[in-house]
Amino acid sequence: MTDERTSLDPDREDIVLTQGDTDQPLLDHNYDGIQEYDNPMPAWWTWLFVATVVWAGAYVILIETGFIPKYEQSLAAGLAEIHERQSAAAASLIDVDQAFLAALSGDAERIADGQAVYNRVCVACHAAGGAGGIGAALNDSDWIHGGTLADIYHITDVGVPAQAMPAWGNVLSQDEMINVTLYIETFGGVITPPAEDAPADAADAATEDAPPATGDGPQGGPEGGDGADPQADPDSDDAEEADEAEPPEEESAEG
Ligand code: HEC
Repeated sequence: MTDERTSLDPDREDIVLTQGDTDQPLLDHNYDGIQEYDNPMPAWWTWLFVATVVWAGAYVILIETGFIPKYEQSLAAGLAEIHERQSAAAASLIDVDQAFLAALSGDAERIADGQAVYNRVCVACHAAGGAGGIGAALNDSDWIHGGTLADIYHITDVGVPAQAMPAWGNVLSQDEMINVTLYIETFGGVITPPAEDAPADAADAATEDAPPATGDGPQGGPEGGDGADPQADPDSDDAEEADEAEPPEEESAEG
């Protein structure tokens, strides 16, 4: 008996499909000797495809009418949120000055926390008890950058980049820097500023303003001074404080 063999190209004996293998009808076309069954995509697949086409149309309409934010809009909104958070973070920083630190002096809880911070990040360079090593000694009254609480806090915050003293302001929280300053005070070298906080800050500013010692070249300008006069320029104090206390600009809601 004859097979139900089907070949649309009677000359080609090689590629022949047998209808008996499946219920599906063999389509009556033939591409270079290749035949195929009528095997449609499943309905769910077809409808998924239709849905994507419908959604593409809907998407164009929604994005053009503003129901879906465009890329630039989401980006601008994201940036605005970042700025808002940054301003909020900056506004929450307190203004740490000599009086503030002096008021906390001796707070056992803060000192204990400061000790933990010191042993974690400072001890490698400044040694136990502030004896000094890679970093300057912190336990005597010889200070390079001023030895008041405010000076120590300030140097801890901004560091001395040229001298391998890291700036900890971005690493430690404000509280941790306050606490480590109070802990350093227990080493015994901290200086109490003579009156108010003006001279201490002025000395600090003077040290910062001094040009780096190069070891050669003529010293000093026309004044002939060495720039270390702690009375110099009381204004710098105000300027510095104003700088730090300046509230961040509010992002206005226009536009
Ligand atoms: C990588 C080493 C290193 C680490 C870590 C380090 N310091 Fe320093 N620190 C230095 C060096 C070096 C100096 C000296 C800077 C100079 O010569 O001007 C210094 C100076 C200081 C001074 C100024 C001393 C003075 O005589 O005026 C203070 C205050 C200070 N460090 C506090 C800290 C605190 C607090 C920590 C931990 C939070 C810390 N340092 C961690 C290297 C370090």
